[in-house]
Amino acid sequence: AQKILLDMDPGIDDAAALSIALTDDAFQVMLLTTVAGNVSVDKTTQNALRLVEFFHQENVVPVAAGASAPLIKKYVDASDIHGESGMAGWEFPTVKTTVLPEHAVVAMRQVLMNSQEKMTVVATGAFTNIALLIRMYPEVLPKIAQVVVMGGSLGVGNVTSVAEFNVYTDPHAAQILLTSGLSIKMIGLNVTLQALLSKENINKLGGINQTGKMLQALFMHYADDQDGAKPMHDVNTLFYLAQPEAFVFEDYAIDVITQGPANGATVATKDHNTNVSVATSVNVEAFNKWFMTKITAI
Ligand code: BDR
Ligand code: CA
Repeated sequence: AQKILLDMDPGIDDAAALSIALTDDAFQVMLLTTVAGNVSVDKTTQNALRLVEFFHQENVVPVAAGASAPLIKKYVDASDIHGESGMAGWEFPTVKTTVLPEHAVVAMRQVLMNSQEKMTVVATGAFTNIALLIRMYPEVLPKIAQVVVMGGSLGVGNVTSVAEFNVYTDPHAAQILLTSGLSIKMIGLNVTLQALLSKENINKLGGINQTGKMLQALFMHYADDQDGAKPMHDVNTLFYLAQPEAFVFEDYAIDVITQGPANGATVATKDHNTNVSVATSVNVEAFNKWFMTKITAI
């Protein structure tokens, strides 16, 4: 199994990604950390614990709560897309599990420093925790094999015409991550808006199993929609780890705009040192097939 650290803001598409991460033998989640993003960090943490308990992983996967606001920018949520709770549409039982006493950034440092092998970090929310980790504990950098992120875009945005939500939420953190020298796979909106889960597959989910029912209910309340098909943004990070050959990447120098009307835009150039491997396409059919197979196997 690939050992991964997951940093998330669940979030409906985060929930879909987490459902697979917590149940697929291909992955071993060493630590699950939360950040303010789609909803407040208190809510994203509750949602992470809800899913950990839903999949009976409370004694297996530790959860640590992270940053409650971006580094510099004022925090604005996306409850208009994911609902007030961040996972609208399903009644989860009251959570019994508690989080680690350490802050997410401290917990990440511990897991990385205690590991003999390098690990992959997967980030599907604002990059606040990762930026703090890089600045506070640079000794972890050699322990990170790669960072696979959902965020940014080569082109169209979803908060403004040019800015994607995870980068827009904390552009300064994104800039710290992208210029850290770490090996980064950036899967942005230009690709995740292609990787739609089809309406037919969403309709099938409820008949598969309890996880399918839960995800179908969440997807019905997920305002990110294209004629009934739904972008599975964050799920692409795990799909990449499972089937890298389904993606095409190109190296770019990415700069993040941190102020003004283009705030949160990720500008890609090829005229100086490239720092990021950016996804430019994904096999949508393979994505749908993999997603449905994984949910069916739960
Ligand atoms: C990203 O923003 C969040 O709302 C989603 O969970 C995803 O991580 C898409 O822009
Ligand atoms: Ca997310």
